[in-house]
Amino acid sequence: MIKVTPGATVGILGGGQLGRMLAMAAVQLGYHTHIYCPDEKNPAEQVTDKISRFDYEDEKALIGFAKAVDVVTYEFENIPVETVNILSRYVTVFPSAEVLQISQDRLHEKKFLNNINVNTAPYAPVSTMNEAIEALKQIGYPAVLKTRRFGYDGKGQAIVRTERDVQRAWQSLNSCEVIVEGFIDFDMEISVLAARGQDGEIKCFDPAENIHKNHILDLSIVPARIDPVLRKQAVEIAHHIVSELNYVGVLAVEFFVSSSDPIFRVNEIAPRVHNSGHWSIEACPTSQFEQHIRAICGLPLGETSLYGRAEMKNLIGDEILDMDIYLKDPDANFHHYGKREARPGRKMGHVTRIFPHILPK
Ligand SMILES: Nc1ncnc2c1ncn2[C@@H]1O[C@H](COP(=O)(O)OP(=O)(O)O)[C@@H](O)[C@H]1O
Ligand SMILES: [Mg+2]
Repeated sequence: MIKVTPGATVGILGGGQLGRMLAMAAVQLGYHTHIYCPDEKNPAEQVTDKISRFDYEDEKALIGFAKAVDVVTYEFENIPVETVNILSRYVTVFPSAEVLQISQDRLHEKKFLNNINVNTAPYAPVSTMNEAIEALKQIGYPAVLKTRRFGYDGKGQAIVRTERDVQRAWQSLNSCEVIVEGFIDFDMEISVLAARGQDGEIKCFDPAENIHKNHILDLSIVPARIDPVLRKQAVEIAHHIVSELNYVGVLAVEFFVSSSDPIFRVNEIAPRVHNSGHWSIEACPTSQFEQHIRAICGLPLGETSLYGRAEMKNLIGDEILDMDIYLKDPDANFHHYGKREARPGRKMGHVTRIFPHILPK
């Protein structure tokens, strides 16, 4: 157990909006922050004490960074495992390289989940189109082909409805490390943010209901509008996952919920704070960002109960141009990530509304 006390420096790999909000939470708790991010003009640079702008493969720069900080974490799961291995020789990194390795690869992730008795969609790893066609005979149509690595916001996936779709789908992925996944006819997607401290203490946030638009999260509604018994089950599964991983920090678990399917299936896990937990900044005594910093620094975890129903709307691309409407709305908590260019599909900010008079059941 390492205790990182206020006044020390938290190192964060990645300078996107998640890195930015992590840094803001670290500062609130009295820490300095140091961002490591190869990109120019990243959202976190406005709020951090220090920034190292080098590649994730630059060993010399990584060692310099490791020596300048007291603990390291990351805001996205696509950093090379080797980067974390190098840093780990000089400084503690949470979550661990082992966790990163599992969550970077959809095959490792699903194997791990099934091994600890957590259900997923049926799946099969394939490396050629013919193998995919064979696997689909078992799994059935419709199905989803997904690249094992580097997918996000629905990228690196293709739906196949009949065998005729397979060739086009296969070519669109441009990869030979693929999994075929049975299509889940879900009624709703939900996620649970679970936190585990260095001492093994676990606290979960209420399940959020997530509504996507063009494969990008549009709206999170908390608590998810499902039977409270199912909400409790989802929290128990998330609890089980972080416990089995000996995880330290905040982890997101995405689920499919289907009334025609009695099995609760986990879609994926993300070893980091997550877009579907942004409402926790205003809706709970402790936000997901503060919880993550508390966990990695060896502080007690904070309270996660809701002040009331909450809704978080992502502001994607041009939607940020409506900011004056949100600024005039007495219920809206508006966040701008400081990105200058509102490109289509780009997450520019978000707005959270709390309804304290509607208390969750
Ligand atoms: N097996 C599946 N059945 C039905 N819908 C799926 C399936 N896999 C993915 N999807 C849909 O695609 C979205 C993105 O897939 P996901 O695996 O979460 O990838 P990522 O979020 O990394 O892009 C999911 O949130 C869900 O809406
Ligand atoms: Mg996802």
